[in-house]
Amino acid sequence: MTYETILVEQRGGVTLVTLNRPQALNALNSQVLADMLAAMVAFDADPSQGCAVITGSEKAFAAGADIKEMQAQGFADMYAHDFFAGWDRFTRTRKPIIAAVAGYALGGGCELAMMCDFILAADTAKFGQPEIKLAVSPGMGGSQRLTRAVGKAKAMEMCLTGRMMDAAEAERAGLVSRVVPAADLVEEAVKTATTIAGMAPLAVKANKEMVNAAFDTTLAMGVQFERRLFHALFGTDDQSEGMTAFVEKRQGVWTGK
Ligand code: CAA
Repeated sequence: MTYETILVEQRGGVTLVTLNRPQALNALNSQVLADMLAAMVAFDADPSQGCAVITGSEKAFAAGADIKEMQAQGFADMYAHDFFAGWDRFTRTRKPIIAAVAGYALGGGCELAMMCDFILAADTAKFGQPEIKLAVSPGMGGSQRLTRAVGKAKAMEMCLTGRMMDAAEAERAGLVSRVVPAADLVEEAVKTATTIAGMAPLAVKANKEMVNAAFDTTLAMGVQFERRLFHALFGTDDQSEGMTAFVEKRQGVWTGK
């Protein structure tokens, strides 16, 4: 399958998606959304694929939603079409997605990175929500996900001033899991994704679901949700294989059942 605005390749069990609108610093327009949703549906449905990596270019992961596409829109158009609501479907991808961010991740670009399950940053990465400079605001979840990731003080400052955070600050603030040299970013992300793709698939989905539940529920409900899924994993062949393999001092062989 080929797409207009993204490049998709499989590296073993890893689907590598590269945003490919260099002329617009990978700005996210409606075609990027359509392409990304189609690629994520295909990724989720392909049993040979266990983890995805989304990356951009050296200069920009993505410099935001496409300002030129939004420029002439009015409230009625935006509200009637529930503009950006399509991105909610991206977050319903059930297998893990790593954002590998180099250069600018601004506005919708920062928001897309935060919709992924975690962010690996190049030392060149710059994160920001500069929408206020356009007299608007984040619209793809940035005010919520950034605040949950870095806390109110930094999120509020970034949304109100448009100030960018560099990779080192993003790591200190907990926005990214790790910072790596820019030259190693994609290789390191694919290596990490390969590790995840090598785990038992049902356990991977369950781990993703329960960590995400921490954002949507109370501690008591979240712990209950975790425990139910943990119990459920004891109904899988892979749990039995995983624990038997440990006792027999060998690697587990997963069936995904
Ligand atoms: N939308 C559309 N086009 C964009 C774009 C965007 N978000 N960001 C960059 N581009 C285009 C530029 O218009 C330019 O195109 P032309 O050559 O046709 O003029 C091209 O990409 C290269 O950009 P620059 O010449 O500006 O590159 P630079 O190196 O001088 O600056 C930058 C880089 C600081 C990232 C600058 O491009 C910039 O500030 N971009 C906009 C960032 C922004 O405001 N993002 C938020 C968008 S709104 C949003 O995302 C809403 C939401 O919540 C989802």
